[in-house]
Amino acid sequence: MSILRSQVVGCGSYLPARIVTNAELAARVDTSDEWIVQRTGIRQRHVAADDEPTSIVGLKAAQAAITDAGIDPTEIDLIIVATATPDHTFPATATQIQAALGITGGAAFDVQAVCSGFVFALATADKFLTTGGARAALVIGAETFSRILDWEDRATCVLFGDGAGAVVLKAAPGEGTLADRGILTTHIRSDGRYKDKLYVDGGAGSTKTVGFLRMEGKEVFRHAVTNLAETVRHTFEQTGLSGADIDWFVPHQANRRIIDATADKLGISHDHVVVTVDRHGNTSAASIPLALAEAHADGRIKQGQLVLIEAMGGGFTWGSALIRW
Ligand code: ACO
Repeated sequence: MSILRSQVVGCGSYLPARIVTNAELAARVDTSDEWIVQRTGIRQRHVAADDEPTSIVGLKAAQAAITDAGIDPTEIDLIIVATATPDHTFPATATQIQAALGITGGAAFDVQAVCSGFVFALATADKFLTTGGARAALVIGAETFSRILDWEDRATCVLFGDGAGAVVLKAAPGEGTLADRGILTTHIRSDGRYKDKLYVDGGAGSTKTVGFLRMEGKEVFRHAVTNLAETVRHTFEQTGLSGADIDWFVPHQANRRIIDATADKLGISHDHVVVTVDRHGNTSAASIPLALAEAHADGRIKQGQLVLIEAMGGGFTWGSALIRW
């Protein structure tokens, strides 16, 4: 049966130049490199400059992805930006990136699912592309979490970083089998009962301020491993695949211990896991496309391979996608 698939035709990323090491944080709050590395695997993170809002960080990743795809930006008729740190309450960061790319056709909007944002945005783009609603989509995860961190709170400020990653997707015919190139499955979930476990304590509609990130780390950790394994099990049930069939597991990069525990639960060998959390920290919606871009650029992820992505974030939200690269 001939169907439409969303094929990844390009991938790119951007990290701000400034690197903040654990030692630098230990000079500001009561923490240590040893504590951060042991509990999270994080050694450093990138922090955007004052004149680098999310739209600029996202634009640079988008430009890299478009160059990698080798297409004219005007071919793109859908832009979705996953971000929890937009430049402004409105307009959407996606529209600013659209204008900066010189694109005047199609639609551009933001998706807000915090750390799961890229998976939600990819699932949304896939629905448009596979139903003929768009022909070429740019999906960007872009964040400047440094702006919403309480730099006095050692329990959260050591965890996050800034950056962006992007993919270009094109609708292309497939046979409707797992051998097709493109997005093969997506699963997204939310459960708003857990909103107080991970949230920002301000907003335009409530406090009229931006607010700071607040988190019950232990609770988030517990739910993350359970929910992430659940979403991937749905993928395995739907496709008949197992962890051993996955060429590259590219999880949201929140914490090395969550990544290892999830891979172990799913029977995925650690040599097939792409890890960037040590150098990027948790870049929320940007973490998966940053990791994809790195493994694509260095030749680990090759065309035709099976790539599994998953994420969990505030809300809670969580989800996964299986892609034949
Ligand atoms: N340096 C030193 N000590 C610290 C620090 C720090 N940076 N942060 C917390 N501590 C202390 C705490 O105050 C506590 O001290 P106490 O025992 O005297 O009260 C002690 O360390 C233990 O704190 P816990 O919170 O119990 O430590 P835990 O082992 O749970 O590790 C962590 C904390 C790393 C946040 C962990 O819970 C975690 O990774 N949770 C998941 C959070 C996450 O990934 N969030 C990202 C967003 S959601 C997502 O992306 C999946």
